[in-house]
Amino acid sequence: MKKFSNRIVTTDRTPIFFGSDSLSFIDGFVRELHPRSTFLLVDHNTRKHCLPLLLENSKSLKNAHIIEIEGGEAAKSLENAEKIWNRLLISGAERNSLLINLGGGVISDLGGFVAAGFKRGISYINIPTSLMGQADAAIGGKTAVNLGHLKNQIGSFYAAKSVFICSGFLKTLPLAHLRSGLAEIIKTTLISDATIWHKLLKHPVTLLLREPIETGPWHHLIAGTVKYKNSIVMQDYRERKIRKVLNFGHTIGHALEGYSQSKSAHPLMHGDAVAAGIICAAFLSHQKAGLPMADLEAITKYITAGFPYYPVDAMDVPALMELMIHDKKNNNGVLLFTLISKPGYPLINQTINKEDILEAFAYYNSCQAGSEQMSGSDNQ
Ligand SMILES: NC(=O)c1ccc[n+]([C@@H]2O[C@H](COP(=O)([O-])OP(=O)(O)OC[C@H]3O[C@@H](n4cnc5c(N)ncnc54)[C@H](O)[C@@H]3O)[C@@H](O)[C@H]2O)c1
Ligand SMILES: [Zn+2]
Repeated sequence: MKKFSNRIVTTDRTPIFFGSDSLSFIDGFVRELHPRSTFLLVDHNTRKHCLPLLLENSKSLKNAHIIEIEGGEAAKSLENAEKIWNRLLISGAERNSLLINLGGGVISDLGGFVAAGFKRGISYINIPTSLMGQADAAIGGKTAVNLGHLKNQIGSFYAAKSVFICSGFLKTLPLAHLRSGLAEIIKTTLISDATIWHKLLKHPVTLLLREPIETGPWHHLIAGTVKYKNSIVMQDYRERKIRKVLNFGHTIGHALEGYSQSKSAHPLMHGDAVAAGIICAAFLSHQKAGLPMADLEAITKYITAGFPYYPVDAMDVPALMELMIHDKKNNNGVLLFTLISKPGYPLINQTINKEDILEAFAYYNSCQAGSEQMSGSDNQ
């Protein structure tokens, strides 16, 4: 395995190949797995925009069976998993077949889940094509589907054989999805590194999103986020303790995401929901964990200027609380949050009650004066 020199992260479980030439290592890696047959899971967009680049770089995948699903968060369902299992079965997939997930976080979460279940587990590789996938979702072995509007309720920890991260895919990613992925980079920066956070503050979201993807700060931001996440996953794969730091912004974020799905034909994207969740978690961090006011203000200003506003009415709160209580990160009906005492200093398992949440939503609403309200097509 030493010949794969541009892998940036070496782990026992999942080597991560990173860089513009990372795809050139796929054939060698797949050959070492000796799969009896290979399947490529794509959605409509990644088939059109990403498959050609992959096949340009891989001879061995030209004969792979292609399984296309409709994309989007609603595709992360048990029904779709069953459809894919049936496709695998009909096409003769066996225990030693290989599944390659070419797409964003929906494809890697769903494809990983399918691989974990098929014949008690087949090998899979993630080739993330969205910023969300490259910076976060494709790494760490968490696989899942949603149950109704409850996020990620059915799933398992099931590690990919490898991950190939190539920024070339991001050239066709719509701006709104680039922004959504940026939310996870902001989250990671806030829990891991005050210096990078202060650098990020000098690049407002709207300007950053216009930077060419191969140049400027993107490469460092993605690489830093991948390295940090991988280091956490290596310490605590099953999220017993330290991996919970990665949930910063997610308890409220997941509730907003699920709730918006139940209310609107154009629900919040995962990253936009997480961005709102980060503002709320930063407020709670100020109230409960000593995050200085100046940091709370900087986080709030940075996010509100770049992400859409999803107004939260007091009437929405009971349903949101219900979703938070069902969130897999919370035990025995007690809401446990990850907070920060200052940028770079996360605290896990912080108990938060309903009144705290109401105050956090009141703060979130109050700091949005003048922001663009989220409605319908501006989320597309
Ligand atoms: N497992 C984890 O650790 C983890 C971490 C973070 C997020 N997630 C999950 O990831 C999901 C969100 O991921 P996402 O934002 O990538 O969503 P997604 O997979 O739906 O991709 C976003 C959209 O971009 C399109 N797309 C992807 N790559 C493209 C490309 N290169 N060019 C053009 N279009 C492209 C897709 O077809 C889709 O329409 C959520 O379900 C979230 O829960 C999982
Ligand atoms: Zn997330």
